[in-house]
Amino acid sequence: MNATPMFGRRRNEDDPPAPPQSAPAPNRPTSSQHVPQQAPPAQTFTQSSTSDSLAELRMLALQQLDPAAAAALTPERLGPEIERLVAEIATERRIQLNAREQRQLAGELVNDMLGLGPLQPLLDDDGIADIMVNGPERVFIERQGRVTLSNVKFRDAQHVANICQRIASAIGRRIDESSPMVDARLMDGSRVNIVFPPLALDGPYVSIRKFTRKKIDFARLVALGSMTPQVARCLEIAGRARLNIIISGGTGSGKTTLLNALSRMIDPSERVITIEDAAELQLQQPHVVRMETRPPNLEGKGEINQRDLVKNALRMRPERIIVGEVRGMEAFDMLQAMNTGHDGSMSTIHANNTRDALTRVENMVQMGNMGLPSKAIKTQVVSAVDLILQVERHRDGGRRVTQVTDVCGLEGDVVILNDLFQFEFTGETPEGRLSGTYKMGRGRPSFWERLVYFGMDRAWVAAMEETNW
Ligand SMILES: Nc1ncnc2c1ncn2[C@@H]1O[C@H](COP(=O)(O)OP(=O)(O)OP(=O)(O)O)[C@@H](O)[C@H]1O
Ligand SMILES: [Mg+2]
Repeated sequence: MNATPMFGRRRNEDDPPAPPQSAPAPNRPTSSQHVPQQAPPAQTFTQSSTSDSLAELRMLALQQLDPAAAAALTPERLGPEIERLVAEIATERRIQLNAREQRQLAGELVNDMLGLGPLQPLLDDDGIADIMVNGPERVFIERQGRVTLSNVKFRDAQHVANICQRIASAIGRRIDESSPMVDARLMDGSRVNIVFPPLALDGPYVSIRKFTRKKIDFARLVALGSMTPQVARCLEIAGRARLNIIISGGTGSGKTTLLNALSRMIDPSERVITIEDAAELQLQQPHVVRMETRPPNLEGKGEINQRDLVKNALRMRPERIIVGEVRGMEAFDMLQAMNTGHDGSMSTIHANNTRDALTRVENMVQMGNMGLPSKAIKTQVVSAVDLILQVERHRDGGRRVTQVTDVCGLEGDVVILNDLFQFEFTGETPEGRLSGTYKMGRGRPSFWERLVYFGMDRAWVAAMEETNW
């Protein structure tokens, strides 16, 4: 482990003074030449030290490339140019490279200059859902719900840092030792979190939740085994009947994905306002107003948080408000919105089960409104929230809806909940897939009147009586 981070300083004290950065940052107007951190001593190479000769080739190629001009080209145009340059330099310096190595080096340089370096192939691979960089040597990926170590490596911590700076600068933020945490979004919509040293002990950490191009709807969730057709049908009805819904679950359990699927039930004529810390929702309706929070600037000023946005949204004539994830004082305003005619509002929350989710909402409201008696908060919560869905990521990599809970009312100080569906494991297939069934609650749900109002009561009863699973 390299305890002292190297970036920001040159490694080799004997190197001649050189421009400080080793990869081009798109927002930097200078077209200075780039010198990598570890310049190998100038000498004629033989085949014996391939990695040294590759490093030299890379350095010489970077010196001859004009980053400003390169940035204006597409990867398809730049690729062959760089390949030619690499071949020329290799011949000149008598470095022996075969065609595959040449192409590979050119590809790396293109990714470094235009893309996200070694991460680019992972971003281009649709089968990968998450990318987690724990320093230059260890890049983990999640594929089909399973996390494994990839064979991708960065040259050094500085190489990771350069890529991070490129991500941050593309959205007008900076990341360095003085502002070492950044939430960003890539051009394609993927969500990124970056932590720099000194907070990150093993070089910069990057966590990427990739944007899924494939739209996940209820049919797909059923096909993935995340719920039965019956549960899907009931959730569709809940969405159409404009119930206020909270989706609860752990990190990466599929909350946002389910919220996206649910949002497809919103009528195209409705005006929907979405509020998020990092925009991830993919609503398909034409009348969607998307808003994103703003972090404080370097002087710690100018922050606009979710609470500010929810308050503002109420003045924007919303029909539904969707908060990507409630995590603080905006919970209060969200409940207010739900209680004042913005039915069909939805949000997600981090919690272990549906009862826990309600307690968390109560706690968040309490934090922002210290004086409010607990009973008053409970009353607000119970009258605002109709349904809570719990999603879980299971050990087979699958994500499942494990609880669909009806918030029935308040008896004394106790919130009465009724599980309409509760997932129970029954076993494991030989391929390692978990299997289970849903235990169903009895009786009419507390939102029966609403179903009647929207003419969905019969559909609900039919769905609850279905035995197609
Ligand atoms: N039902 C599902 N089946 C298979 N994969 C899923 C399912 N739901 C979500 N995923 C995948 O799991 C990953 C995490 O999903 P998602 O972003 O919805 O989780 P989350 O709970 O919102 O995470 P976070 O807590 O980080 O916000 C994504 O890559 C998504 O494509
Ligand atoms: Mg999410």
